[in-house]
Amino acid sequence: MQAILIGFMGSGKTTVGRLLATELETHHADLDELIVKRAGKTISTIFEERGEAYFRQLEQQTLRDAIAQPGILSTGGGTPTIAANAAILKASPVPVICLTASDQTILGRVAQDTGRPLVDELGTQGLMALKQKRAALYRAAADILITTDNLTPAQIVAEIKARI
Ligand code: S3P
Repeated sequence: MQAILIGFMGSGKTTVGRLLATELETHHADLDELIVKRAGKTISTIFEERGEAYFRQLEQQTLRDAIAQPGILSTGGGTPTIAANAAILKASPVPVICLTASDQTILGRVAQDTGRPLVDELGTQGLMALKQKRAALYRAAADILITTDNLTPAQIVAEIKARI
């Protein structure tokens, strides 16, 4: 990998990762998409049928495989909050970039998408409590922190390119 993107749900990891890969003329991989391919099921179905613990096992195996590939990797929102995954990220020589955003920005973004089991399960308040609880874990895993409020994906990519 050339760069790994981490951050809470709705922080823009997938959109920015795709654009960054296009600009760097490299491959983009999205950890959630790789998990869906591996399981042959959507993330929501995996959570429903097998629970979060099973999803985390799949996530860890998939992260180990993905990190060995070239290109840009967008992780899932919970990826660096699991100790084993945090250790995998720390051991990687590739820059780990954390995208952050205010609660308002995140809520605005996740409201536009579906298919995130934790959003449905936790509701607005629970989601923001989770964001706060995870903040220190994202910071600990990151080499570079980028605040994305009021920035377009192209501006975020420009900032990343200036810093890696
Ligand atoms: C999760 C975030 C999701 C996905 C799963 C769990 C989390 O990824 O991996 O629903 O624990 O925050 P996105 O951040 O891409 O939505």
